[in-house]
Amino acid sequence: MDLSSNFKLSRLFGCHVSSLTCKCLALVTFVLFFRAILLHSFSGYDGIEWNNLDFFSSRSLLLNSDDGIRRDKFLEVPQIVWGLNNQKIAFARACLTARMLNRTLLMPSLSASLFYKEIDRLQPISFDKVFQFERFNSLCNGFVRLGRYSDLKNQTGTYDLQKGSGRKWTAERDLEQLKQIRESPVDEHEVIRIVGKNPFLWHDHWPVKDYARVFECLVLVDEISKEADKVVSKIRQIGTKLRSKTEAVGSNFDAEGSSLPHVPYIAVHMRVEIDWMIHCKKLEKKSGINQICSSKEEIMERVGSIVGSESPTVVYLAVADSLLNDSSILGGWKKGLLPFEKKKLGVDDIYKKHPYLIKSAIDYEVCSRADIFVGNSFSTFSSLIVLERTQKMIRMGITNSCDIDVRWPSYAYNIPGESNRPHKWMTNMSDRSLQAISYGSNVISC
Ligand SMILES: *[C@@H]1O[C@H](CO)[C@@H](O)[C@H](O)[C@H]1NC(C)=O
Ligand SMILES: *[C@@H]1O[C@H](CO)[C@@H](O)[C@H](O)[C@H]1NC(C)=O
Ligand SMILES: *[C@@H]1O[C@H](CO)[C@@H](O)[C@H](O)[C@H]1NC(C)=O
Ligand SMILES: *[C@@H]1O[C@H](CO)[C@@H](O)[C@H](O)[C@H]1NC(C)=O
Repeated sequence: MDLSSNFKLSRLFGCHVSSLTCKCLALVTFVLFFRAILLHSFSGYDGIEWNNLDFFSSRSLLLNSDDGIRRDKFLEVPQIVWGLNNQKIAFARACLTARMLNRTLLMPSLSASLFYKEIDRLQPISFDKVFQFERFNSLCNGFVRLGRYSDLKNQTGTYDLQKGSGRKWTAERDLEQLKQIRESPVDEHEVIRIVGKNPFLWHDHWPVKDYARVFECLVLVDEISKEADKVVSKIRQIGTKLRSKTEAVGSNFDAEGSSLPHVPYIAVHMRVEIDWMIHCKKLEKKSGINQICSSKEEIMERVGSIVGSESPTVVYLAVADSLLNDSSILGGWKKGLLPFEKKKLGVDDIYKKHPYLIKSAIDYEVCSRADIFVGNSFSTFSSLIVLERTQKMIRMGITNSCDIDVRWPSYAYNIPGESNRPHKWMTNMSDRSLQAISYGSNVISC
């Protein structure tokens, strides 16, 4: 795969323009690309980044319509907990439940910290401290809707709904319960409040594309996305410096007068910390799949086989804090791959200011904007990044990136592909449930 940074269309796909399919593909992309720039000039963004590709999505063309979700009926859910991506899934599940009931979801609390057991240390954080509230409603208009507690009229009171639990509480019974409460008299209540388990643990009734539709509407607040911008530009700065030492840099980097030259980088979500290793070994035993855990060496080797070594390339390692002092993850990479984690990058101050949830959101952004992403298919964090990258690819008109060299490929290092490369990875958007993504899978549709 050619990692050179220029924007030549042939390079966009890493293939030769002489091939007919490639020509067509390049043409389509060319058209889409300039459409994006055209639309882009009316927006407030700068730089040709992932964000701008939002404009391909039909959602921004949706007109305001009144026949969407009812604005006078609400659903309330318990505080959303655990990892960033478990929280995103739980949030989306709450939204889709509200949609099924044709109700506005009362903006739930997320959790800023990651204590699994100690409920009182979960630090509730309001959804709108992390994601843009108005933007969410405008992007998801007609599909799902968020409301505020101040929207309540408090006239008809609240109906408490206890979801069942245990083995006998099947997905069918759960769905039946939701259908029942859509009828009167329960539906008369202004608020239906679901009590008990966190939505991540509810039964799933929706296809991947419905979740994806909700995730698309989650846009980080400026304060956090600016932090991610800082990290990404630091990575690209270092990349530029490294390249200028080995080659005559120039013309194509600053041709656009951009302050952020597009020097490609690879992001690897490297799960090798002790807790994960214990967890994944157990998982391997339980599931009988021996492709869940990857050692440091295996990850380095597989990532190394993706790219050539002509141009030095920064590899951003998204690792647990407990690995920041572990120099062994920085050594042993193939020549030309230069590994950095947040400490070596000198951006740990940016992270230190924030609680767990925000740190994780920044790392998520850095990985999802990377030119190449490599993760573990049994990680929710990696899976949601690949889902987002898959959606962006689809918006560019590429529905199957498995066989062609695309500009923003994703790989799973825990599954071997051809010639010991990591396996190419794309989300199956027609999956009927989110099961594979939320619990991990070695079937990664490529
Ligand atoms: C929700 O209810 C409103 C008003 O009854 C209706 O117009 C709309 O089509 C319903 N929306 C959905 C998604 O069922
Ligand atoms: C309804 O109750 C909620 C929560 O107690 C409160 O925040 C809100 O202001 C009330 N709304 C009205 C219109 O009284
Ligand atoms: C890493 O090492 C430094 C200095 O030895 C120490 O202050 C810091 O707490 C360590 N960080 C972690 C995450 O172990
Ligand atoms: C995607 O999921 C659908 C529905 O579960 C399935 O029929 C199809 O074979 C899957 N495609 C791939 C490439 O795995």
